[in-house]
Amino acid sequence: MKALPDIRDARVDGRTVLVRADLSVPIRNGEVVDATRIIRFAPTIRDLLSRGASVVVMTHLGRPGGEFNSVLSVRPVAEALAREIGHDVVFVPDCVGGISEQAAVHLAHGKVLLLENLRFHKEEEQNSRSFALRLSIHGDIYVNDAFSCAHRAHASNHAIANLMPAFAGPSLLAEVAALTAALESPRRPVAALVGGAKVSSKIAILKNLASRMDHLIIGGGMANTFLAAQGHNIGRSLHEADCVPLALDILAVAVANGCRVLLPEDVAVAARLADDEPSAVVNVGEIPRDMLALDVGSATVARIDALLGECRTLLWNGPLGAFETRPFGQATFAVARRAAELTQAGRLATI
Ligand code: 3PG
Repeated sequence: MKALPDIRDARVDGRTVLVRADLSVPIRNGEVVDATRIIRFAPTIRDLLSRGASVVVMTHLGRPGGEFNSVLSVRPVAEALAREIGHDVVFVPDCVGGISEQAAVHLAHGKVLLLENLRFHKEEEQNSRSFALRLSIHGDIYVNDAFSCAHRAHASNHAIANLMPAFAGPSLLAEVAALTAALESPRRPVAALVGGAKVSSKIAILKNLASRMDHLIIGGGMANTFLAAQGHNIGRSLHEADCVPLALDILAVAVANGCRVLLPEDVAVAARLADDEPSAVVNVGEIPRDMLALDVGSATVARIDALLGECRTLLWNGPLGAFETRPFGQATFAVARRAAELTQAGRLATI
């Protein structure tokens, strides 16, 4: 792959740097409930400020579908970001137009501005060049530090890169370096653990992984589609019926390439997704019709733990269950602790 231009090699002193971040974080009652993405992104801003730049940050949050939705405003992100970097963050209630342009023009050196959710404008996801032009007005230099949405061709990370001097940010570069090493020359055995709720956006990646990995561990909402493909009743669980043929295809690719697939053998089920909702662990063949599978069960966790003990590299994307809602994070946190222990002991490289 062509080397990406690194913003750390660019002169930013006295310039306004427009940074695309992925600060799409969970927010509840106007408060950020998991600041991991903000914490990871903060060093990028601190570095730019220390080198004399002012910084305009843009991000999406959730999927508002091109319309304003107050629940998906990034205003609470501005407060959390300010706490994290120890600097004021000015928030503007739109990502394009007079207000944000004026705020960017008058942004003093060493200051940070956060633009409102990019996806309140449908042109963002349409990769509109004219929308990208309106975004580009906010800075002299563009930086993409949003690895987790780099698979999308949207105006703020694709069209805009042709309109301004464009660089990759440190956290995007770190992800690319780690992934390249893990995919091209991993210490084997190598396992990929893929979970999360967004079945259709990741299921195609599974096909690629099934041809390269020694083990594929599938959890989260995505696993339900595979369980349905295997003929299990999955009750009211999140799944995508139209992806069932693709799931079967992925299982076939895995078999053809000697990749062993670990699917949940037991799951935690509940009547609805809510904190402290009564739940029970059942085998995947016994999911009640009126229930939702919201986490993988302890027998599955034990199998994953044992497998990680045999592996040398783990590539992990997405939780095993609905981890933000108690108690459906148990499997995710247990496996994360196990991966962390093995990593600290030098027995596993975890990406
Ligand atoms: C994510 O959370 O996976 C990224 O923010 C990308 O979000 P998207 O799948 O809505 O584009």
